[in-house]
Amino acid sequence: MVDIPIADNDRITKRFPMLKIQKIEIEGFEDVVEGIDEETNLHCYIAVHSTKLGPALGGTRIYPYNNPEDALEDVTRLAKAMTKKSAIAEVGLGGGKSVIIADPRTQKNTSLLHSFAEVINYFQGNYISAEDIGSTTHDMAVMREVSPYISCLATKQSSGDPSRFTAWGVFRGIQATLNNLYGSHSLKGKTIAIQGLGHVGSKLADYLFWHGADLIVTDVDQKKLDHFKHTYSAKIVPPNEIFRVECDIFAPCAMGGVINPETIAHFNCKGIAGAANNQLLHRSDGELLFEKDILYAPDFIINAGGLINAAMEFEPGGYDPILSRNKTDHIYDILTNVFQISERENKSTSQVAEEIADHNLQQAVSKRIEPIDFAVF
Ligand code: NAI
Repeated sequence: MVDIPIADNDRITKRFPMLKIQKIEIEGFEDVVEGIDEETNLHCYIAVHSTKLGPALGGTRIYPYNNPEDALEDVTRLAKAMTKKSAIAEVGLGGGKSVIIADPRTQKNTSLLHSFAEVINYFQGNYISAEDIGSTTHDMAVMREVSPYISCLATKQSSGDPSRFTAWGVFRGIQATLNNLYGSHSLKGKTIAIQGLGHVGSKLADYLFWHGADLIVTDVDQKKLDHFKHTYSAKIVPPNEIFRVECDIFAPCAMGGVINPETIAHFNCKGIAGAANNQLLHRSDGELLFEKDILYAPDFIINAGGLINAAMEFEPGGYDPILSRNKTDHIYDILTNVFQISERENKSTSQVAEEIADHNLQQAVSKRIEPIDFAVF
């Protein structure tokens, strides 16, 4: 990995005199930069993995990483996953992601978000931000004051909070998984264990409750748990127990890497279908699940609802939530197809999903033809 300083830009120097943007060469990535602004305490990375099918859209994660190496590893893994997610969802977008090393509860403020938005401007539209863990629709509005390359704003033209569409896509993915396991997608009497009750997990719990599921939930934030116990009669378990509980579906909706040899040894579920990005710690963990007969709904397919909704902003006719919902519904069919190929070809579902994403990339399926007019938003 070699650091190459990029040329100073007059505008950056004027508005953010201390902001330094450095390009980092990483094999297989189109463009990765590190942004540091000592005045605003910004330390961020933005990774554009691929723009082959369109500009790279991916959320901004604000998280107190232990060190810069962990942040860089996370952003590159997440950006790669976005390329696959966009390719399978056929939204005419590429794969990218950004991370800010900060505690969103105590270190997030307007000047930090403004100087971060200036780093987004470096990409001139090849990277588009959205919300992710630690960032909100309100943060997007603050960033929009400095950069036009921001999606998921709470405006008429924009698509707003993506998490209700992500949660709806995960709900439909759980139905597809149940259908493959039991020959019916009914939730009645089925037990779903949710890890993480944030933007997505909380909405998913609501959809599942109204469709008759029994819930087991956990979160590291103890304050959230009481609400779920009383509102949904959910069984509460400590965070480490969620991997062991007997259930039909385990739905990871917190951080990545939760499917690994250690957790796989304890899983007591028939299927795994949740929102978290990069659920498999290693590629080989998808094979382990297949060997154990646990049906896995690949994360970059089942959690695409938010991306599908954000991409709808860029449609020529403008944003329409009905079209977003209908396209998100299609996650059920995409997963059903993956499950059928997996059975027919005796391959893990994660392997099948990788192959479909590679095919769509190579064949430029749904590649964006017209450039996005960012002035509209
Ligand atoms: P969030 O930050 O709103 O919620 C995450 C929740 O998980 C929080 O309540 C947090 O306390 C909890 N949590 C963190 N570590 C935990 C642990 N070890 N055990 C139990 N709970 C834990 O995030 P959001 O937006 O709900 O996203 C959840 C996951 O879904 C993330 O991996 C995110 O990247 C992914 N995702 C989210 C999308 C969206 O539209 N928000 C879109 C696609 C993926």
